[in-house]
Amino acid sequence: MTDKELLSMAAEAAENAYAPYSGFRVGAALECADGSVFLGCNVENASFGDTLCAERTAVVKAVSEGRREFRRIAVSASSADYCLPCGSCLQVLREFSEDMEILSARGDGHYVSYKLRALLPRVSIKGEMEGLLRQSE
Ligand code: THU
Repeated sequence: MTDKELLSMAAEAAENAYAPYSGFRVGAALECADGSVFLGCNVENASFGDTLCAERTAVVKAVSEGRREFRRIAVSASSADYCLPCGSCLQVLREFSEDMEILSARGDGHYVSYKLRALLPRVSIKGEMEGLLRQSE
């Protein structure tokens, strides 16, 4: 699948966004190692902190269907600038992937591509957790 095809799936997913508070509709298309694609949209809540981003919706759908290896995620929003995953989404992606590709399209269709490692270069939480688990054994 081409980048453009994955991005257009993300744009379609944005149509299901539930964003009555921000009005900012985001879609994500997550491509797994086996080629399957899981879609996600942002799902907002009146308790704002309970809002789920499109990227995390897609990850949760994939993991709950048995996928844990990801190749690419495409993110689409009709904004003037590129919509890149927030810190929480980067952290959740990093839980499952050392270095996947992140594609982001803006409203006019142009897109950029980054490696996860470029956006979240140093993550130690997982390693620290492993250290903690070993200490408590
Ligand atoms: N949002 C996403 O779904 N993904 C992003 O990458 C950025 C932000 C959502 C969360 C919230 O519903 C709205 O966009 C405004 O932040």
